[in-house]
Amino acid sequence: MLAALTTGYDSHWYILGPAVEQFEAAYAKWNGVEYAIGVASGLDALSIALKAAGAGPGREVVVPSNAYIACWLAVAATGATIVPAEPDPVTHNLDPHAVVSLCTPQTAAVMPVHLFGQACVMAPLLELAEKHGFYIVEDNAQAQGARYDGRLTGSIGHLNATSFYPTKNLGALGDGGALTTNDAYHAQFARAYRNYGSEQKYFNRYAGVNSRLDELQAAALLVKLQHLDRWNQQRAMLAQRYLDGLDAVPQIALPHVAPGCTHVWHLFVIRTVYRDALRQFLTKKGIQTMVHYPLPPHLQEAFAHLGFKKGQFPIAEQLAQTSLSLPLYPGMPEGHVDRVVDAIRQFFGVS
Ligand SMILES: Cc1ncc(COP(=O)(O)O)c(C=O)c1O
Repeated sequence: MLAALTTGYDSHWYILGPAVEQFEAAYAKWNGVEYAIGVASGLDALSIALKAAGAGPGREVVVPSNAYIACWLAVAATGATIVPAEPDPVTHNLDPHAVVSLCTPQTAAVMPVHLFGQACVMAPLLELAEKHGFYIVEDNAQAQGARYDGRLTGSIGHLNATSFYPTKNLGALGDGGALTTNDAYHAQFARAYRNYGSEQKYFNRYAGVNSRLDELQAAALLVKLQHLDRWNQQRAMLAQRYLDGLDAVPQIALPHVAPGCTHVWHLFVIRTVYRDALRQFLTKKGIQTMVHYPLPPHLQEAFAHLGFKKGQFPIAEQLAQTSLSLPLYPGMPEGHVDRVVDAIRQFFGVS
């Protein structure tokens, strides 16, 4: 990693140079797509993908009601209307049945978010997209390496976005993101849009943005990409250890992987109505946990103007009240998983 960074530093070429080109080619190959376009963040990747899909004022984008706030912010950035769909309460992923009734002639895109690392069920969404003529924009920020029906997430939708935020399965040393697509026109649009809308220096085709993956991040990502599959395997082993160890605790709902989908365990999220007390108990034992996410987007102050009410998206609200993410990262000693499992079993009185 240090050698790659030193080479990048010594090149004195820090924006849109050879490392970004190499990383884009390597990431596209790894993800099984024709094109990858590096941008400054996952949020930008999503909003540029949505713009390429035609989202804008007067159009609608269907997003999960329990999505990360970036998914909603990306739609807001285009000026399109946010249309929330309730998720499947068991997988936490977009429920195609909930999407059906929300599609209208104004729908520009539907955004399946492969939440926590599990691939969404994609076939019914792709059928709907075909029928109604809208785009599927995958949010693959948390699921690099997951598969639906054997296909890698990030390669299934018409346009896909991912994040290289440092904690992601493939994380940079700062912010970064990428769009992936098999469509040459969309790739060309995104490549220009991220760079002031310019295809030729000082000539601007679109009113774009400045959102470029930088050379040093690309150099770091090129090194880390070589380890991603192995790290995902490590995550899977640790997740299995949690699943085995917590199976006997009836007060907990464990993550459920849907048929045809795989999970790359970006997060290991359990659900329990005793969430807050359990969290406190674990904190006292020196075990850090997180809540993804404590407040759904429709109840955030940022979206108060949309007029959504408490109780309007009960599944999202219930997930926010009951979800708890346990520690999991590649390289985590198995003994640490066992300590977390033992503490949880102790809390619930399961021997
Ligand atoms: C599901 C999801 N979508 C989008 C994003 C936005 O990515 P970024 O933080 O790189 O803007 C993130 C992560 O932060 C995410 O987890």
